[in-house]
Amino acid sequence: MSRHVLVLSGPNLAALGSREPEIYGTLTLAELESQVLAEAAALGLEATCRQTDDEAELIGWLHEAAAAGWDVVLNPAAFTHYSYAVGDACAHLAGMGSRLVEVHLSNPASREAFRHTSVVARSATGTIAGFGAGSYLLALRALASLTG
Ligand code: DQA
Repeated sequence: MSRHVLVLSGPNLAALGSREPEIYGTLTLAELESQVLAEAAALGLEATCRQTDDEAELIGWLHEAAAAGWDVVLNPAAFTHYSYAVGDACAHLAGMGSRLVEVHLSNPASREAFRHTSVVARSATGTIAGFGAGSYLLALRALASLTG
């Protein structure tokens, strides 16, 4: 049975393609997600992609993954920097034994000061940032490389 990975994208990421292309590139979310699904299949993982602008919906999905024992690739977008509720849901997910990889298209550490804080990072197995869609693909490879 292949491992299930939930690939979650937070607020404003549905606008990829037209949103600040000099920072986030020109790939649409649909194109990014089709790369994610292809990479997951090649790695023998079963991935599901979802995006929301809604904090409560994102928290619900993190709890769903925690209950089901799924690993999660999460781009929390702006929630990264201030949502203690998303951070706590990530802590719960990790506490339940799921792996969490935090991803960002850009490298928040090289941008404005408010982006230098992540309230999610403490619960992540690891963080991959700065490689565009490649951050998501590298996260899948990292998960696939972990045993157990
Ligand atoms: C982002 C970085 C965040 O600072 C920003 O709020 C986003 C996208 C990224 O993927 O680079 O919405 O998470």
